[in-house]
Amino acid sequence: MVFEAVHYTYASGVEALRDVNIEFRDGEIVALMGENGSGKTTLLKHMNGLLKPTKGRVLVDGVDTAKTSVAQVSMKVGLVFQNAEDMFFESSVYDEMAFALKNFGFTEEKIRRRIEWALKFFELEEYENTSPFLLSGGEKKRLAMAIIMAWSPPVICLDEPTIGQDSLQKEKMMHMIKMLNSQGRTVVLASHDVEFIAELKPRVVLLSAGEVLADGPCEEVLTDMRLLERASLTPPQVVALLKRLEDLGVDYRVLDVEGAVEKILKVIRK
Ligand SMILES: Nc1ncnc2c1ncn2[C@@H]1O[C@H](COP(=O)(O)OP(=O)(O)O)[C@@H](O)[C@H]1O
Ligand SMILES: [Mg+2]
Repeated sequence: MVFEAVHYTYASGVEALRDVNIEFRDGEIVALMGENGSGKTTLLKHMNGLLKPTKGRVLVDGVDTAKTSVAQVSMKVGLVFQNAEDMFFESSVYDEMAFALKNFGFTEEKIRRRIEWALKFFELEEYENTSPFLLSGGEKKRLAMAIIMAWSPPVICLDEPTIGQDSLQKEKMMHMIKMLNSQGRTVVLASHDVEFIAELKPRVVLLSAGEVLADGPCEEVLTDMRLLERASLTPPQVVALLKRLEDLGVDYRVLDVEGAVEKILKVIRK
């Protein structure tokens, strides 16, 4: 998947993406980070062809998304919206899940098997005949994931997967992302949850006002104080703490508690 000099301007005149060049490699986990309004959601919507560049190109498996249908691109790239409800319009969980599968032309038998598997995996079996709108917030989020996983696309895009989730749900989300990735899938997530990303340790693409400010390993981007400031992101707590100890000679470029303890002990023991 490649973004080539992508610009996107909304009808209102807002320039949401400016000269974005990114290559997503198969099997990677990539986090799009940046403050509210930096263009993360707009970028994700370009990945499955929901939005087409005003200028530039997005290629999915070598195919220009502007020259193919959203359904075609969606087979390869599944996007889970930030607000799960925006994805729902059917009157039962089963029908909601069946909708896209029918569109893709799967047989009735295959549709039933896929749905049963996904409902079980996301612990939603008991809601098969319930309206999606009656589920709790966490269940809606799981249903949104289940809908996408039912057709098992090789690329999965998650928009702010941790917003409104408690710590147990966040842990499950972390586990899920790692599992999807270990199955060889590419996962792209938009998030401004620095602590979650610091734990996941993906490649980070930092956005600010629609432009790519940085693109590199999490350990580099999330420990670069000047960069984080330019992107209006607060550093992970571990980095902020170590930074305060920098005068003592402590190296602050570490994202996890164990690593931080090691760096501090190294100085104390000197
Ligand atoms: N449907 C829309 N119409 C007009 N402007 C929009 C629309 N959606 C987003 N924007 C604007 O585009 C910019 C990027 O928004 P968005 O991609 O949602 O950022 P993020 O997901 O990082 O918060 C913001 O200035 C936002 O106000
Ligand atoms: Mg957003």
